Amino acid sequence: MADVVVVSNRGPLSFRLDASGRPEPAGSGGGLAASFHRLLAGTGATWVFAPMGEADRLAAAEGLMLEDGLRLVTVPLDADTYRMAYDVVSNASLWYCHHHLFDLPRRPRFDRHWREAWDAYRRLNRAFADAVAGAAAEGSVVLVQDYHLSLTGRMLAEARPDLATVHFSHTPFAGPDMLRVLPSDVAGELLAGMAGFGCCGFHTRRWEAAFRDCYADPELAGSARPLVAPPTFHSPLGPDPEAVLEEAAAAECDSAAEGLSASIGDRLAIVRVDRIELSKNILRGLHAFDELLERRPRWRGRVVLVALAYPSREGLADYLAYRSEVEHTVSRINERWATGDWTPILLDLADDRARSVAALRHYDVLLVNPVRDGLNLVAKEGALANRNDGVLVISREAGAWAELHPAALGVNPFDVTATADALDAALAMDAAERARRAGELRRLVAGRTAADWLADLLGAADRLSLAGR
Ligand code: F6P
Repeated sequence: MADVVVVSNRGPLSFRLDASGRPEPAGSGGGLAASFHRLLAGTGATWVFAPMGEADRLAAAEGLMLEDGLRLVTVPLDADTYRMAYDVVSNASLWYCHHHLFDLPRRPRFDRHWREAWDAYRRLNRAFADAVAGAAAEGSVVLVQDYHLSLTGRMLAEARPDLATVHFSHTPFAGPDMLRVLPSDVAGELLAGMAGFGCCGFHTRRWEAAFRDCYADPELAGSARPLVAPPTFHSPLGPDPEAVLEEAAAAECDSAAEGLSASIGDRLAIVRVDRIELSKNILRGLHAFDELLERRPRWRGRVVLVALAYPSREGLADYLAYRSEVEHTVSRINERWATGDWTPILLDLADDRARSVAALRHYDVLLVNPVRDGLNLVAKEGALANRNDGVLVISREAGAWAELHPAALGVNPFDVTATADALDAALAMDAAERARRAGELRRLVAGRTAADWLADLLGAADRLSLAGR
């Protein structure tokens, strides 16, 4: 088998500074980094990633980025280049574009400052491509993850045509109308970068089609010598069922569950677990709960919304503002409905994985209502961890809807009234129907694991090698 090189912005290890300014391990963020970490542990694969802050950079310089059974390669990047590429381009521009988050009457504004950030994004992509070119053995399979690294496809095709490169997007793809918001030359450079990969993968057929549509748009792909889309495939990621069940059975989770049960008592629990992230639609979820209490008085005092939302991307003003809007909205709804012995919404902003898994174990209803989401792993982890025949209420704009719709209640995430109705239906569902749906959900989720997803990526790379691409 060819050597495997994984390339992503966020790596398997991260550090924070302790009180004396020394780097200490801080665990890794969730999502794709955690999934890959479990899949690759002990395989000897190479993982190329960015040091994301001062603590990571110090740790890399001191040789602390080490893990048995993995070859870790950090990409040398100065702090300014990284901040502009990550905050301004990757998070505030490309993430917004792919998730349709732009507030178009006001933003984005592509001015000369933004152009400096785009130059930083190019430098970051170049530094990654150089690091991969230096680390990859002849004929390696290179699995590049996400929108941070759109330009590396073309760079690697030029520098190392022997490599079988596969790009995978964990986000949706913008589609032509939204991609046309980017400056024309930038959109063209991005599509040219992606066209350099041997092939590109997505979680759903819908995101794959949106990507291909961009190459069919002459405004984006050019008309004289139009860019040609690379081969594409779709393959949804799944959790590792054993890992989720292990987490749910751990002593740490038991003690978090005790704390949670004490706060919920014998009431029903609607649970949500998200990063504080604009695309997760936390605010409309809160408004839907408010409307539920208003229009269906029978639930007052009988149900609690457990909203676990851990901070993320706090370098962006929008995210800080969103966080305070969430806190303010929770206070307002609680002031409106709380009684002496009932607090309707329990909001917790701690980043505590054991507590999140405990809440997934416990829910009667799991609310996953993003405005747009590449997949949503929480919906799938919830199905495995839950011990209560809980009902999943999920946005039709989440990639996971494509797989889970036979067993879940779907909602239009913009429709607060419909979301309140779906919560009502889920809370009122009879035991037999809940059990039927929960069983079907578990079957759907357990039938497609993280290992199946990785096998699809490696299969796509194999086909490239055979085709000599
Ligand atoms: O593709 C989405 C993703 O990379 C997820 O894997 C993860 O949950 C999230 O974005 C993390 O974003 P960041 O690394 O910027 O915190």
